[in-house]
Amino acid sequence: MVSAQVCFAVLLASFASAASASTPVSILFQQCWHERPFTTVNLQTSHDRELVFATRLNYFATLPPRLSRQDRVKELNYGPWSYPPVCTKVLQSVGDKLCVYTNTSFSGGRGISLFTTPRIAEEIATLPPFQDPDALKSKDVNVFSDNWHTQEIPGKGVGMLAKKQLKFKDRVTAYTPALVAYLEGELETLEREKFFRIALSQLPEATRQAYLGLTYIYGLEQIRVQDIVKANTFQLEVAGQNHLSVFPETSRLNHACAPNAQYYLDPALLTHFVHATRPIAPGEEITISYISPLEPTEARQQQLSSGFHFTCTCARCTAADATDSKLREMQNLQKSLNDWSAESTGSPKVAEKLLQLYRKEGLEGFLDIPYGFAALAYNAVGDTKKAVKYAELAKELILMKDGPWTPNLQIWEEMLRGPKDHWSYKRRR
Ligand SMILES: *[C@@H]1O[C@H](CO)[C@@H](O)[C@H](O)[C@H]1NC(C)=O
Repeated sequence: MVSAQVCFAVLLASFASAASASTPVSILFQQCWHERPFTTVNLQTSHDRELVFATRLNYFATLPPRLSRQDRVKELNYGPWSYPPVCTKVLQSVGDKLCVYTNTSFSGGRGISLFTTPRIAEEIATLPPFQDPDALKSKDVNVFSDNWHTQEIPGKGVGMLAKKQLKFKDRVTAYTPALVAYLEGELETLEREKFFRIALSQLPEATRQAYLGLTYIYGLEQIRVQDIVKANTFQLEVAGQNHLSVFPETSRLNHACAPNAQYYLDPALLTHFVHATRPIAPGEEITISYISPLEPTEARQQQLSSGFHFTCTCARCTAADATDSKLREMQNLQKSLNDWSAESTGSPKVAEKLLQLYRKEGLEGFLDIPYGFAALAYNAVGDTKKAVKYAELAKELILMKDGPWTPNLQIWEEMLRGPKDHWSYKRRR
């Protein structure tokens, strides 16, 4: 089965209760973080000998020819795949070979190409989008929502803008990837490029064009397909393995340190979902955060420049002192809310203050953290009504941010089932 974990979990905040006899539950509140793109994708550039050699070749001209009709007749032999798999030798670090698998009729002719092990490809082929023709359609996946359009944005390349007023929780996009590739570091850049190009060349025309229209970082024609991966990939964990995945439409979402949308990846539907986390006006750019917006400004700037090759110019990046002092204040409030000792200064008032700070910083998409703290703080003084209200709000946000599999969800579901039975009930009376 596909792993439920679709992103790297980074410990950002902890709701750890003091471990004592009266609190058998010690909760580590892990915030799942989706990093984009993979900074670990290494592209060997100018000094690579092979690459210099390759510049003399037209790599697109070396693509294998598309299959003839006669060969297509053979496709029945390839199970769910439209072409015979093209494979590497066994890679030591992978313990298997990697092959290109394409299904051109996937999702009503959108198509999908994988570059992964035979075992993982087989597993992917058992997923609902391959098995059930309605799995994607019934959820309006790969359907244009008509509430956005793309446009050149000065200094930022192409961006996605709201076409109409979007409300909190409105869906922005839901798409499957054009390309999913096993994350390995063993293949030579040009060798990998060769396989990626086969994967791309086998996709239906519209999907291939959408892919090739995406932004890139290095601008070297001979490694273009990987360059686009480098600039546009999201992490997708399939069968316990990290895969690079490129979603052409979704890739148009630019970064903001106070984003107005959140996303999660559904590993069973192979779908990237994006929802508005605050109202978005027509003409306003729709943004997500590529990195954790709760990190200090310098760390965020560093991550954005090294991993994403741009300098962040939004207010939370340029006003470093003000932003960092707010972040420190938020951390201090979280620390006191996390303190379950008799001396704790944690209270509903502190939780409300934390919530206010998150909102002021434009972090509506990350309110599950202060909502969670508020639920605990109110329950701790016996106010179950408010505790339930905040637990519900935390749950609602987690669903937009991490998807329905995250363990965090269970924390709030447990509280909602019976706030009075929850370990936090009247803990601070
Ligand atoms: C490709 O995937 C679809 C599901 O989207 C499936 O119906 C079809 O059998 C698969 N195989 C081929 C060769 O198209």
